[in-house]
Amino acid sequence: MTLFSKIIGTGAYLPPKRVTNQELTQQLAEKGIETSDEWIRSRSGIGARHYVEPGVMSSDLAAEAAKRAIEMSGLPADAIDLIIVASSTPDFFGGFPSTACIVQRKLGIANECACVDVQAVCSGFVYAVSVADSFIKSGAHKNVLVIGAEVFSRILNFEDRGTCVLFGDGAGAVVMTASSEPGVLSTVLHADGRLGDILCGPGPVQNGVLQGSAFLYMDGPAVFKHAVVVLEKVAHEALDKAGMQASELDWFVPHQANIRIMNSSAKKLGVPSDKVIVTVDQHGNTSAASIPMALDHGVRDGRIKPGHNVLMEGVGGGFTWGAVLVRM
Ligand code: UT7
Repeated sequence: MTLFSKIIGTGAYLPPKRVTNQELTQQLAEKGIETSDEWIRSRSGIGARHYVEPGVMSSDLAAEAAKRAIEMSGLPADAIDLIIVASSTPDFFGGFPSTACIVQRKLGIANECACVDVQAVCSGFVYAVSVADSFIKSGAHKNVLVIGAEVFSRILNFEDRGTCVLFGDGAGAVVMTASSEPGVLSTVLHADGRLGDILCGPGPVQNGVLQGSAFLYMDGPAVFKHAVVVLEKVAHEALDKAGMQASELDWFVPHQANIRIMNSSAKKLGVPSDKVIVTVDQHGNTSAASIPMALDHGVRDGRIKPGHNVLMEGVGGGFTWGAVLVRM
């Protein structure tokens, strides 16, 4: 019998503090940085973002999103036998203990299940789902909690208007389980390290001291240019691998970074705009959290239904990109 992995629960969590474009514009103006609601909205589609309060970590957001996904799955939390967290803003600078281990503790899961973090920036969630799918298909794990969680507000340079208006904090999660029916239909992952410099956190540590900058750096136009090309390609690769046509897609859930990239990807695929799940207007770019948050949004408002074919795709620092095609 062929073994598949299937998503049986979704969840999302946004920290309560919401900052609109108008509020951010005013705060930046006080520091002499000029921007506007009109610029942010027309260039990116973003209307607001959420920020954590001091002391709140990625694992806190991750645990909240995970609780919701586990509850929807109907599984007891102790049935989870692998936790994968995708994050570029892990709780600890050196990345250990992993955020996945911290989430395990915060969820009270004491079954000694495996825990690991995945780092692929904004492609992190599609990478993590792909890893989970492989573990489930191999029979190594049965019930996998996959989370994308970020506190990007901590690595934003609020003197750099080209990036600080774009990103926000949040978490999204799915529970995946072994199933005799599909499930994940195909996954495709790519990276090109030669493009590492266009989106990065250029701050290595030497002798315990940060060298360079801990802030996010992005060459927006360069990322935009590459994103539209690779996203079109990877969407077709995922469809071809599953022997499916774009016309058979019920929903397209792209990484929520920029509405112009999302619309362009949908148009090139021939997917009508009413089949695209859009949440970027509400929370900006939340990196690895954006796809699972958008997926959860579509599931909970009743648009994404069991049996629907959903294409998720992401692109981010590294340079990384990938797509996951699932039947819900
Ligand atoms: O999540 C990982 C993937 N990330 C992405 O997909 C992001 C990809 N990139 C983008 O989404 C877009 O490139 C941005 C939204 C970042 C920027 O949009 P753009 O149309 O590429 O604008 P630009 O960077 O070329 O800037 C255009 C102008 C510049 O002024 P000049 O040189 O034309 O006079 C910027 O200085 O807009 C200026 N500008 C701003 N103006 C007002 C840049 N940031 C701002 C700002 N407010 N916040």
